[in-house]
Amino acid sequence: MAQLTAGVGCSHVPAIGIAMDQGITEQPYWVPAFEGFEFSRKWMKDNKPDVIFLVYNDHCTAFDASCIPTFALGCAAEYHPADEGWGPRPVPVVKGHQRLSSHIAQSVILDEFDLTIMNEMEVDHGLTVPMSIMFGEIAQDDDWPCLVVPLCVNVVQYPPPTGNRCFQLGKAIRRAIDSYDEDLNVMIFGTGGMSHQLQAERAGLINADWDKRFLDMMTEDPIAASQITHEEYLRETGSEGIEMVMWHVMRGALNDKVTEVHRHYHVPASNTAVGHIILENHE
Ligand code: DHB
Ligand code: FE
Repeated sequence: MAQLTAGVGCSHVPAIGIAMDQGITEQPYWVPAFEGFEFSRKWMKDNKPDVIFLVYNDHCTAFDASCIPTFALGCAAEYHPADEGWGPRPVPVVKGHQRLSSHIAQSVILDEFDLTIMNEMEVDHGLTVPMSIMFGEIAQDDDWPCLVVPLCVNVVQYPPPTGNRCFQLGKAIRRAIDSYDEDLNVMIFGTGGMSHQLQAERAGLINADWDKRFLDMMTEDPIAASQITHEEYLRETGSEGIEMVMWHVMRGALNDKVTEVHRHYHVPASNTAVGHIILENHE
């Protein structure tokens, strides 16, 4: 049977991917950010997943204002990198696991979470940057070390889903993974955050105390974390801090008790805080 072995929380700041793509990670600005990923890359090699269930948001790349699904599940054989701004990153095409995607779609929808099914979808920095953070540089004509099932969450157009809804969806995803009949090491990533606001008067807002408490709650009190309101994210962490609701999908899928094996928090990268945590899911 498939086993959910770990959860990873991870910012997906596009400039992190660009720093890797441009080969400037040794510059003093970037060194402290990347130092915190060294453990993670070794840990990924030691714990090699077969599939990553990757929760992220699209930033007007695959979807524009004409269509905004709240939860969109990737069911494709492959997903091509794309991005606005700097354009598509020179990273490998992301390969899917269609049979697992179909199983999750059936299990989760019959469990009364109405997902949008994406048989074609491009993936932006929200997905490719966490992959690069965790796996390091991989040549474009090479393969990522594992398959990916993407779940794209709307956090761009109000109203995004609540933290609680995301947490409960995580539980449904866990039931789906637990009932999948192939022996697979599955990990789940929740991406986005931490505190950030990219525009208007409060652009550049960082609330490190709040972010660190959020990381504590991810490990120790995920139910309380899932009850954080949209207003609190907005007030305390800036307009794009709402991306953190996606971490609750990851945490909801894990056991109540987990082992935090790594944490990294660094300011700044671009205009934002970088937050990262690895939670092992032991029986
Ligand atoms: C930026 C964009 C993001 O999507 C994000 O999550 C963090 C930072 C940026 O443009 O700097
Ligand atoms: Fe983002």
